[in-house]
Amino acid sequence: MTTIHLAPSILSADFARLGAQVEEALAAGADYVHVDVMDGHFVPNITIGPLIVAAVRPIAARYNALVDVHLMIEHPDRYLADFVAAGADILTVHVETCPHLHRTVQAIRELGVRPGVTLNPATPLGALEEILPYVDLVLVMSVNPGFGGQSYIPASTTRIRRLRAMLDAIDSAAELEVDGGIKPGNAAEVAAAGASVLVAGSAIFGGPQSIADNIAAFQQAFVS
Ligand code: DX5
Ligand code: ZN
Repeated sequence: MTTIHLAPSILSADFARLGAQVEEALAAGADYVHVDVMDGHFVPNITIGPLIVAAVRPIAARYNALVDVHLMIEHPDRYLADFVAAGADILTVHVETCPHLHRTVQAIRELGVRPGVTLNPATPLGALEEILPYVDLVLVMSVNPGFGGQSYIPASTTRIRRLRAMLDAIDSAAELEVDGGIKPGNAAEVAAAGASVLVAGSAIFGGPQSIADNIAAFQQAFVS
């Protein structure tokens, strides 16, 4: 039985209470902290950078949680060392921003952290084929990157299944992470398709329920 990891995306958190909210999510059982870095060029939004990684790092360390940095930026190679110095455990780059993807993945590995790759919903999975043997995580975007609170793109489930088959065909131990529009209502479907890490932002940090209750709703989705 695959362990399903929950990766709260802090993009949807209340930044006036970020530390407390990350702590609540980790205490409730999440074991990744997903940090959405956006530069206003690759995606329309501008969000957060190494300073926020450094701020959440000590909280994550107390819970042995992974700081999972999703780089939605152009020229990610320029910033890898800064994010590692700030405390990133995983650095995930978009294939669309890396003309020398093999070199970028090697550079992440040489910095001593886990390399991840991801792709936008319309980018063919074939773009990943040659790099799969070199990464520790593959992230399937189930929304168009740039914003939290969007709806899950239904065609993503087939993509997840196809990617799972590609990873199994090379006996890869890489995590298969899915990001965008993930709710307790679709979590079991996404996991059944082959995901091992679920990113959720608005479903954890938004809405009337507490963060702990929102996480419990995901855990319940895997029990039933
Ligand atoms: C979108 C980000 C996602 C987003 C998830 O560009 O990569 O991580 O914050 O937010 P929800 O779970 O609300 O779709
Ligand atoms: Zn993300």
